[in-house]
Amino acid sequence: MKLTAQDLAAGYQDRAVFTGLDVELPDGAFTVIVGPNACGKSTLLRALARLLPARSGTVLLDGTDLTTLPTREVARRLGVLPQSPLVPEGVTVEDLVGRGRQPHQRWWQQWSAEDTAAVREAMGQAGVAELADRPVDQLSGGQRQRVWIAMALAQRTGTLLLDEPTTFLDLAHQVEVLNLLSRMRDGGRTVVAVLHDLNQAARYADHLVAMRDGTVVAAGPPREVVTADLVRDVFGLDCVVVPCPVSDAPLVLHT
Ligand SMILES: Nc1ncnc2c1ncn2[C@@H]1O[C@H](COP(=O)(O)OP(=O)(O)OP(=O)(O)O)[C@@H](O)[C@H]1O
Ligand SMILES: [Mg+2]
Repeated sequence: MKLTAQDLAAGYQDRAVFTGLDVELPDGAFTVIVGPNACGKSTLLRALARLLPARSGTVLLDGTDLTTLPTREVARRLGVLPQSPLVPEGVTVEDLVGRGRQPHQRWWQQWSAEDTAAVREAMGQAGVAELADRPVDQLSGGQRQRVWIAMALAQRTGTLLLDEPTTFLDLAHQVEVLNLLSRMRDGGRTVVAVLHDLNQAARYADHLVAMRDGTVVAAGPPREVVTADLVRDVFGLDCVVVPCPVSDAPLVLHT
């Protein structure tokens, strides 16, 4: 599903994080959002998922204005992984992942075989099946992060919005998560993730969105977006960009 923000404004109390923002997240693609701390990436993701009400402007999901959809319908279409979710005390991994199924449940059917299958599959994909009975608040940061990813996957939504899904993960687990998200995209889902590692972003993204100070500075295929000028402009960092010897994607080496 294609997500489009038109002339979008969002913020907190008296702080406008962005105004007049336009961005298009293509259908069936893996989009990565990059940009310095506090530039508004999480705020954009929240506004796209309707977790934060837009102050003005529109978010369209396949052409439908999100504000016209019931909350439950939004939850069935958009899966979200927030940046620092709060862990409820004493809840097991399996229970927490199961909460991802709530938007699919009805008062006359609290839990179905499909829910069980979705939870099993998501725990397997995120590599947390063996942690199923452990309380989430007793896990390591990386284990916990993968539980949240499992919860987002269990929602089986057409679109996934993930805010820094690889934080806390060692390199091997980062690669595992990025490969998993690529497979989701291959399976037809629209995946949108905020990442801090520019080289991973350039290697995995079909579509890259670079933000600075509440504005979209560049958007497009990584090969077009990732240049030394862009990195200087967005991050204030001098670098050279060379083709990655492994993937041929742009590789950023700071000087
Ligand atoms: N709940 C909040 N209340 C008030 N201000 C907030 C809140 N959350 C974020 N902000 C402010 O909004 C601005 C954008 O924050 P946001 O979290 O979107 O940045 P970000 O690009 O995700 O940064 P990071 O890379 O550090 O996660 C920042 O100046 C931040 O201090
Ligand atoms: Mg953030």
